[in-house]
Amino acid sequence: MSFEKINVEDLEFSPVKAIGENWGILTGCSEEGFNSMTVSWGSAGVLWSKPAVFVFVRPGRHTFKFTEQGEYFSLALMGEGMHEKMAVFGKKSGRDVDKYAASGFTALNEDGVFYPEEADTVFICKKIAATFITPDWFIDESIDEKNYPNKDYHRMYVGEIVKVLKKVK
Ligand SMILES: Cc1cc2nc3c(=O)[nH]c(=O)nc-3n(C[C@H](O)[C@H](O)[C@H](O)COP(=O)(O)O)c2cc1C
Repeated sequence: MSFEKINVEDLEFSPVKAIGENWGILTGCSEEGFNSMTVSWGSAGVLWSKPAVFVFVRPGRHTFKFTEQGEYFSLALMGEGMHEKMAVFGKKSGRDVDKYAASGFTALNEDGVFYPEEADTVFICKKIAATFITPDWFIDESIDEKNYPNKDYHRMYVGEIVKVLKKVK
């Protein structure tokens, strides 16, 4: 299977469906290696006049080390019907398991930025900003108790989209 580079402007997708319903695989890449995990929170759009991806990583994730240390990450949109196949990416930690071996997925890379070959669409992103969510963000105060009983607030990463890869079908 191969991918072609497409213009970000030509991409038609619903972030709610593609990320929230079908789920994505986020891969943090550093000089030490890479790690991938399932994400269902996030989006893509525009910030500071740049096409950008927004992802949210709790500090306890093994992936966090890679999103923190690395300059690039990828967000892979997996398409419909992939939940079962990608289960290990959201249930197990890369500290304990080789998720690619366990899932049967294959890690490819674009200029050293890794992503699963099983993806439908891949955003290759350069990290341009990051901040921890803090409780003072919340105007709706129920967000805190519903999502952060352990006070493990996500770190939000903004990635400038430097390439979009689309699976050739
Ligand atoms: C459907 C689904 C969505 C998830 N979304 C996120 C997310 O957006 N951010 C996050 O930090 N963890 C999320 N997780 C949890 C991580 O994928 C999970 O804890 C994973 O095992 C972490 O792996 P790691 O320790 O190798 O990084 C999600 C899990 C599932 C099943």
